[in-house]
Amino acid sequence: MKRKSSLSRRDMIRKGVTGAAGFMIVPRHVLGKGYTPPSDQLGIAAIGAGGKGRSDIINAWHEGKNKVVALCDIDTSQCKDTRKKFSDAKFYADFRKMLDELDGEIDAVTISTPDHTHAIAALTAMSMGKHVYVQKPLTHNIAEARSLTEAARKHKVVSQMGNQGASNPGQEQMVKWFDDDLIGPVRSVQVWTNRPVWPQGIPVPTGKVPLPDTISEANWDLFIGPAKMVDYHPLYHPFKWRGWWNFGTGALGDMGCHLIDPPFRVLQLGYPTEVECSVGQVFTQDWVPEYIPEGCPPSSRTEIKFPATANNPVEMKMTWHDGGLRPFHPDLIPANDFLGEEGSANGVLMIGEKGIMTCGTYGRNPQIYFNNGDKIGMAEDFESANPNAGENEYGHQLSWTEACKAGFGSDEHKALTSSFDYAGPLTETVLMGNLAIRSYMLGKKGNSSRGNLNFPGRKRLIWDGNAMKITNFEEANQFVSREYRKGWEI
Ligand SMILES: NC(=O)c1ccc[n+]([C@@H]2O[C@H](COP(=O)([O-])OP(=O)(O)OC[C@H]3O[C@@H](n4cnc5c(N)ncnc54)[C@H](O)[C@@H]3O)[C@@H](O)[C@H]2O)c1
Repeated sequence: MKRKSSLSRRDMIRKGVTGAAGFMIVPRHVLGKGYTPPSDQLGIAAIGAGGKGRSDIINAWHEGKNKVVALCDIDTSQCKDTRKKFSDAKFYADFRKMLDELDGEIDAVTISTPDHTHAIAALTAMSMGKHVYVQKPLTHNIAEARSLTEAARKHKVVSQMGNQGASNPGQEQMVKWFDDDLIGPVRSVQVWTNRPVWPQGIPVPTGKVPLPDTISEANWDLFIGPAKMVDYHPLYHPFKWRGWWNFGTGALGDMGCHLIDPPFRVLQLGYPTEVECSVGQVFTQDWVPEYIPEGCPPSSRTEIKFPATANNPVEMKMTWHDGGLRPFHPDLIPANDFLGEEGSANGVLMIGEKGIMTCGTYGRNPQIYFNNGDKIGMAEDFESANPNAGENEYGHQLSWTEACKAGFGSDEHKALTSSFDYAGPLTETVLMGNLAIRSYMLGKKGNSSRGNLNFPGRKRLIWDGNAMKITNFEEANQFVSREYRKGWEI
């Protein structure tokens, strides 16, 4: 994609360019407290304005700190509340058209579409010099995550992934505890989620369902974007696309960037070296498991191995559990204590030589259980001292818009908790688990009496992170990237 040589409004503001598109700078005191003059507002637009997109753009707008120039969505019913709220914003179905027509007005975009369209939308926006806030997981596959990381640097744009727990003071507290050597080196990490909480591991829908009035044929084509064309079905849109590899990334993609974030950040992990998994099976007849390679499995357990790092000088194995499976209470954690968070639905255990550090989703409820039986929780002043303590999602979107205003390479940019330099490698790690799951599910015609399929990918896979390649099972490498629909290649 070619970068357009247009100056954004902010560029003009920063570079002092005036003229046709210039602004009248009104002194702040004339406008009243809390009012942000247009000259200080970032022009923002939402790609995906329903679902999570609604709170992303509202938080980025921040009661007028920034101007919502446009909204883009393919389904007029999903985004109707957001459109009502920002009734002056222009409305589009095709983000390419929106960026093209409003190039001079849009400085930054939030991208909250299903996972399979994150990369194409973000790369298009970044190539035009727009700053990007992209929901988690950053991308649908590992190669896309690497491309986005490189593109943000190349185009010098300010980026942030929507794993808002990154800005939760709980994570900062855990980093401090670990750096103060409270738990010692960590050899084992356990992570779990109650997802999927949508239909998953089910047969591929058949039969044609008419498109709802709120989605045109052309807009369904836009929903599909780079994916393989399939007919509309309510088991795909909205929300349920998560359970299909064509669009989503399963339970790992949904929660991995929230729950693997704390250990990735605390231990300063890099590329993993090995991955192995097993997945839940479904039987509707005796002995022959259902074979649904298009769908993510109902449950999975994945082990990802990391080499020693400067911060954690020992090899570490991380075990991921989903679909209702979770680790058991380690001896150090009393039997009646919940694991991770209330109800034990999601959580993280980092098992160190001196104790176990644990938290729930988004780094909430950080605690340490020490080997001597003592226990600590988050220091009270740690939470109140956080500058974004009262903000929605701990100011995850707000700190991004402020960093966009300060510019690429600014202190505000460097202080972001999930810019792509961090979020890219984190997402690659999360998607390593999916690469193992898809390899595990890969059936080859064979002589087996059980469904006549062989499963050659059911083994430990060795990963070369720099080369982005599995070195001991060539067929796994098809899942590093994907086949792109014509016209939507990356
Ligand atoms: N950070 C969080 O806490 C959090 C929570 C929920 C979802 N998410 C992420 O947000 C993203 C969206 O998830 P969701 O639950 O809101 O899904 P959803 O299906 O409920 O909503 C997606 C929205 O995007 C629109 N859309 C789909 N394709 C589009 C396209 N090509 N162009 C423009 N609009 C399009 C849909 O019509 C809908 O309004 C996912 O990546 C998901 O992982 C993050």
